[in-house]
Amino acid sequence: MIDLSALREKPTLAGERVNLVPLSAEHADDFFESTRDEEIRRLTGSHRRPDHDEVREWCATRSDQLDRLDLAIIEEPGGRFVGALALEDLDADNESAGYRIALSAIEFTGQGLGKEATRLVLDYAFDRVRLHRVWLHVYAFNMRAIAVYRSCGFTVEGRLRDALLWDGRRHDALIMAMLESDFRRAAD
Ligand SMILES: CC(C)(COP(=O)(O)OP(=O)(O)OC[C@H]1O[C@@H](n2cnc3c(N)ncnc32)[C@H](O)[C@@H]1OP(=O)(O)O)[C@@H](O)C(=O)NCCC(=O)NCCS
Repeated sequence: MIDLSALREKPTLAGERVNLVPLSAEHADDFFESTRDEEIRRLTGSHRRPDHDEVREWCATRSDQLDRLDLAIIEEPGGRFVGALALEDLDADNESAGYRIALSAIEFTGQGLGKEATRLVLDYAFDRVRLHRVWLHVYAFNMRAIAVYRSCGFTVEGRLRDALLWDGRRHDALIMAMLESDFRRAAD
């Protein structure tokens, strides 16, 4: 059975080069900037550009959410905001949840920060929340993200054809997922 209190009570998860902290109002300006980054928008398929007020409201209300977990990714040392991630779309009956991550600018990618953040939150998802399944969607062109997810233990389960229409071209999305048994195997 999953432990809902582990989603309700927002943790701080300490790694070597990143710390994950509860996403809150103090991250709103940095978060807003990331929604304006064209390459991050393409990689995440984000058509909407939320306005500043929407982003402030979103960040300020994350700690009130009982059935999801939103964490800011903070680079250490330095304490710079470099992105955000979430466990969302909880299906408590089936002990499953969705995962999403986005570093906030391309300059932060390719340094191992995303992989470390993903490993930290997966430890929490399987060990503390006691989920059975964590799944995600990733666009088939996003080779860096696919490589990171694979190396963390995710497996491709399927393909959503033409799921994204971006600048007049259609792209497939992949469904990837990781089960608790994959997590235990990766930890061995
Ligand atoms: C996807 C994301 C979280 C990955 O985090 P990251 O910190 O950039 O990635 P890392 O540096 O930890 O790892 C990159 C890995 O991908 C590999 N990689 C990079 N580009 C690649 C490519 N074109 N083809 C194959 N592998 C690639 C690297 O070799 C590295 O693997 P290694 O550690 O085994 O050498 C981050 O890049 C990000 O947030 N990107 C922008 C938004 C986004 O794409 N979000 C995901 C939406 S599903």
